[in-house]
Amino acid sequence: RGGLFTRIVGKRLLFFQEVGSTMDEALRRAERGTEEGTVVVAETQTASRGRQGRAWVSRTGNLYLSVVLYPSLQTLPYLNSLCGVAVVRAIANISGLKPRIKWPNDILLEGKKVAGVLVESAIAGEQVHHSIIGIGINVALEADEIDEIAGGAISLNHASAGDIPRDELLREILQQLDALYIQLNHGDTPVEEWEELLDTLGQRVKVTWQGEEYVGFADGIDAQGSLLLREDSGTMRTLAAGDATSLRP
Ligand code: BTN
Repeated sequence: RGGLFTRIVGKRLLFFQEVGSTMDEALRRAERGTEEGTVVVAETQTASRGRQGRAWVSRTGNLYLSVVLYPSLQTLPYLNSLCGVAVVRAIANISGLKPRIKWPNDILLEGKKVAGVLVESAIAGEQVHHSIIGIGINVALEADEIDEIAGGAISLNHASAGDIPRDELLREILQQLDALYIQLNHGDTPVEEWEELLDTLGQRVKVTWQGEEYVGFADGIDAQGSLLLREDSGTMRTLAAGDATSLRP
């Protein structure tokens, strides 16, 4: 196993046996202005969160991490697609598997969820105070855990019929995040690559967005990765991918 060669993501790397949520550990450090790229990894979580207020199965054997970033207001909308692309590339490089993405960012293998991404940001005035990106990857789920997960889940070990080394997967994710984030800061967005990974387009879909349910045809995405949904009534909706953004006074 080699070292970690990154410029921003993972320069500071914190490991915990157990936390409430890596999001909160990262948040606490972001509020104190920790170095950009600080990564929090935990073996288990007791109060994990997923999108839309759901929990995320967080027993030992899987990968749970959060990263502190200080993006600009211009780059903020791209963090969601950036994470999706980083996770897909990392899984592909480590396992040879080819995950797909269900909008906004469910990472799927065989149509089942293998990883999830959560981006939480705080905006103060015209500036992003911080963003925390959270990634959970199912590496070695137990059968009873799979039953707990709504919509169907799969683990990397199951899908690859092997033992995926978590340390290598983590290193690969951090390296991909780092490379994509540096490119984004140079004006290069991950949206094109992300769009090619999206399974959702050209289909009739049901989307829960900010607590509301929308049904319609997924026409495409815009330049920032928002979903263009044509409702049955003919109304076009532009649904932005990043949800949880809090406003700081
Ligand atoms: C989803 O709903 O698909 C997103 C799930 C995100 C889970 C990860 S696990 C690491 C980090 N800590 C959390 O509490 N949530 C994210």
